[in-house]
Amino acid sequence: MDLMEKIVSLCKRRGFVYPGSEIYGGLANAWDFGPLGVEMKNNLKNLFWQKAVRERADMVGLDAAILMNPKTWEASGHLKNFTDPLVECKKCHQRFRADQLPIDHAQICGGELTESRQFNMMLKTFLGPVEGEAGTAYFRPETAQGIFVNFLNVINTSRQKIPFGIAQVGKSFRNEITPGNFIFRTREFEQMEIEYFVKPGEDEKYFEEWQTWLWNFFLAAGLQAENLRIYEHPKEKLSHYSKRTIDIEYKFPWGWGELCGLANRTDFDLSQHAKFSGQDLTYRDLETNEKFTPYVIEPSLGVERAVLAILLDAYTEIAGGRSVTTEATKEMEMVLKLAKAIAPVKVAVLPLSKKEELAKLAKPLAQDLRKIFMVEYDETQSIGKRYRRQDEIGTPYCVTVDFESLVDQAVTVRDRDTMQQERIKLAELSDYLINKFNN
Ligand code: GAP
Repeated sequence: MDLMEKIVSLCKRRGFVYPGSEIYGGLANAWDFGPLGVEMKNNLKNLFWQKAVRERADMVGLDAAILMNPKTWEASGHLKNFTDPLVECKKCHQRFRADQLPIDHAQICGGELTESRQFNMMLKTFLGPVEGEAGTAYFRPETAQGIFVNFLNVINTSRQKIPFGIAQVGKSFRNEITPGNFIFRTREFEQMEIEYFVKPGEDEKYFEEWQTWLWNFFLAAGLQAENLRIYEHPKEKLSHYSKRTIDIEYKFPWGWGELCGLANRTDFDLSQHAKFSGQDLTYRDLETNEKFTPYVIEPSLGVERAVLAILLDAYTEIAGGRSVTTEATKEMEMVLKLAKAIAPVKVAVLPLSKKEELAKLAKPLAQDLRKIFMVEYDETQSIGKRYRRQDEIGTPYCVTVDFESLVDQAVTVRDRDTMQQERIKLAELSDYLINKFNN
């Protein structure tokens, strides 16, 4: 099994990611996040929000509607320009992105391809009971436009002055020609985006700052620096709105792939929305009285893509096993070395046996810890097997309640990575764990 197959199988088996609408045979390239997947996704989004909004005086948040006035997409250029080149095989009628032809198509089918044509990736729908032009709407292909159309609202209702930024996390939709690679490219996905408004002329400086911020964010999310690199988009391939774009790429099993983008969108979006809406979207600097249309630096990250990279990066196999408490010590052991902030389950409470006297202590203990941490309580199977189950989903700490606990009012805390065990008094346990998660 290659690494991707192992991750897909682990995700299904342990409840990170399931095939979408599976009982009906699924829907191609749609995925559902299970109990562990949703925790992991939320942890990642919370980390983003913490670092992008809460810890910064120059940032605020927003949650705009997915469906927007269709004029938005005229102004942004998406109706005209948000296209990929499409070709069709005249023999097997499969459709491909002209710039991403699968190597094996020529070998297996060998059919001639049509001329490439531009295919618009906007997902269309109709609002209200009548289908027709008047009710046409589009699922947003990026969260960014919800921020631009609220620029004036935020300026008028917050105390922010330029330079400042607005962050948003939410779903986006694209009618991708070739989705694939598990959750890497799908038609429905989540983005974490920032539009950072600056004075023209200061844009290049802030571009550099956000590049460093993004890099550090991925390190905080647990990715190893050696699996990351910067890709600079050549000038002739820039999007219609961009002065400069870089991607941070991750070394996926199939090669380097885009993890996030950072673009200098200049004053393109605000100027376009001013033109199409007739509203004045210029900014007046109250100190210098200067009036200008701000430039925008845009860090844009995909949630699911980051989750995939984090899972791949954390996946560790230990040949021959590592734990002395495991009966089958010769077997391979798997550890998901997730960053503590990202791990879906933070603490597992494991009574040594199913005996009622242990449950009487362990259950209320787990319930207490649930007020602070995501906790899993598990009393089935041997303790070795339960440690391995927790290692497999990346739980940083296992708390074992044994018969001695009834006497000394203490428990054993096991560290996932060092496997060190420490005896901690019950009265000190939550402070001990809080401290561990804060360091
Ligand atoms: N507002 C700018 C923007 O949307 P993008 O490079 O098209 O830029 C940003 O998208 C990020 O969104 C990508 O780096 C990727 O992480 C994620 N993304 C884009 N399309 C995606 C798809 N079809 N499936 C999953 N993630 C996607």
